[in-house]
Amino acid sequence: MEQLVPSEIEAYAEAHSMPESPVCRALREETQRTMEYPQMLVGPLEGAFLKMMTQLVDAKRVLEIGMFTGYSALCFAEALPSDGTVITCEINEKSAAVARRYFAQSPVGRKISIRMGPALDTMRALTGMFDLIFIDADKINYLNYYRRALDLLEPNGVILIDNVLWSGEVLKQPPPDESTAAIQELNRVVSNDPQVTAVLVTIRDGVLVVRRAR
Ligand SMILES: C[S@@+](CC[C@H](N)C(=O)[O-])C[C@H]1O[C@@H](n2cnc3c(N)ncnc32)[C@H](O)[C@@H]1O
Repeated sequence: MEQLVPSEIEAYAEAHSMPESPVCRALREETQRTMEYPQMLVGPLEGAFLKMMTQLVDAKRVLEIGMFTGYSALCFAEALPSDGTVITCEINEKSAAVARRYFAQSPVGRKISIRMGPALDTMRALTGMFDLIFIDADKINYLNYYRRALDLLEPNGVILIDNVLWSGEVLKQPPPDESTAAIQELNRVVSNDPQVTAVLVTIRDGVLVVRRAR
């Protein structure tokens, strides 16, 4: 992933935002040491943003599409009230094994429930409503995840969609690959959807913040 925000600016923003917890730091460091594509985890600044959004919408129930080693799931759990819950979807057993170890060490890990298997199947089986839904898995399915997320979203809830700038690739026409095309299509559909209002925030690789229109 290409860094869109200059690293000194990113570091300054990070230093002036809420700090990551010791468990999140340990998980991030192990992921960087031992996993392929460690840059997939959101990191301290976007993690702080996710925590702030969780608190701003007064979330009790969070759904995450794409857990990896559990960094963002832990951020949500840390920001939720004691009776809050996170359901997080993953297909990769190696990543899930790391996540389980860190959830067991964290005082808030019991709030997190992992659903293994393709996220679209998990979403189709879910009936309960969510205050915050974070979409951060395979880009090809972004539009499918967005459509199902709208069915599962509480009236005052928020959908957050990660990597919507895709290292700047979204500017290219024609799109260089399927993932870029899928993200461009998602951004186009959401920004033209009269059911919602949205803002594309240029934090890290771009986060689309979506809520129902009033
Ligand atoms: C970008 S990473 C998630 C990072 C995580 N949100 C964080 O910040 O710590 C995307 C994850 O989605 C998982 N994934 C990919 N396709 C999936 C699918 N169809 N269903 C569930 N998870 C999937 C991948 O295995 C990967 O671990």
